[in-house]
Amino acid sequence: MYLMNTYLRFDVGFVHGKNSVLFDKKGRDYIDFASGIGVNALGYSNQLITDAIIKQSSRLLHTSNLYHIKPQEKLAKRISKLLGYQTYAFFCNSGAEANECAIKLARKYGTEKFAQKRYEIISLSNSFHGRTLATLKLTGQDKFHPEIFAPYIDGFSFYDTIDEIIKNLSDKTAAVMIELVQGEGGIKSLDKNEVKRLSVELEKRKILLITDEVQCGIYRTGEFVASKHYGIEPDVITFAKGLGGGVSIGACVSKHNIFTPGDHGSTFGGNFLATAVANATLKELKRLKKLGEIDDVINEFNLYLDEILTDFGEIFERKTGLGLMLGLEAKQGVDLAKIMKLALKQRVLVLRSGAKTLRFLPPLNISADEMKLGFDRLRLALKQL
Ligand SMILES: Cc1ncc(COP(=O)(O)O)c(C=O)c1O
Repeated sequence: MYLMNTYLRFDVGFVHGKNSVLFDKKGRDYIDFASGIGVNALGYSNQLITDAIIKQSSRLLHTSNLYHIKPQEKLAKRISKLLGYQTYAFFCNSGAEANECAIKLARKYGTEKFAQKRYEIISLSNSFHGRTLATLKLTGQDKFHPEIFAPYIDGFSFYDTIDEIIKNLSDKTAAVMIELVQGEGGIKSLDKNEVKRLSVELEKRKILLITDEVQCGIYRTGEFVASKHYGIEPDVITFAKGLGGGVSIGACVSKHNIFTPGDHGSTFGGNFLATAVANATLKELKRLKKLGEIDDVINEFNLYLDEILTDFGEIFERKTGLGLMLGLEAKQGVDLAKIMKLALKQRVLVLRSGAKTLRFLPPLNISADEMKLGFDRLRLALKQL
């Protein structure tokens, strides 16, 4: 083994995939309700993505941001049009980097906008914003701030509720960052009225509202952004995961075009390959949404989960989440790791979120047959618990 010891891995590896099915080296099929932790929005071997990769890679992969990059400009415009308001985009390679950009933008905003510099960024308990030192510190869970990595970056705090956030806004606060559906913190959707109240309060005080849509964005909840469900237009939105359909890309988009050359950058960020594939991914997802296909998948997947909840009431307490970002919260004492292992044995891939939630992030175009087979297998696994 020549890998750093950063992941506990299941004892399986895959060699290829088709639609929402992965295959191991013995040719065994696994139904995928995890999509590479929310990345493979269009499943595996999607022809449109493959074509975009082949077309772009046979012309140009990368030039650097010292020169104009047409698909990058196109992608920035596409995101702004999908949002329905003017935004300016910065492209990078991951969710943590997208949030780093948002943090720097908020710090610059806090410096320039107010007579006295503002630097504080507030987040919510149970949030997750990434693994870099800054995004770790912004993550509202103490277990992510162990002493071994100290000292951390100053200027971040987190509170349990939106009400507490509002009460603790001060003349130091530059921004508030929230996940509208908490991805690693138990698949918890925030309350609509509370989010609206926060948005109004922040706008009044000219404090930036940043939504981290790294996991819940890109149609995962049924809308291009979860913010649409909440009727808000955040100052800053961050994306990654589903945006590249499997190719790594992150984006930070903002209403505020305040960076000047030298403030921020990324060698790979927004290169020809990543942005060409992201354009193809968004175009296809928009088409599927318009045809009603994503909403159909959401309805069907939710029905299956409701049935599981009814039939396995001794294991699960409730269903949580939005769209195709879903959780089954387990009852006290249920061994989630065991459920995941049993599910793997039955050849269906599921995730966990937080301490007690089984998490489902299937490809957004999973077929009815794949879904049925996956849930049949999950039932077999749950019966063995
Ligand atoms: C909401 C959220 N923000 C940020 C991140 C970090 O993204 P990445 O792993 O691409 O850096 C994640 C990853 O799970 C996430 O779910």
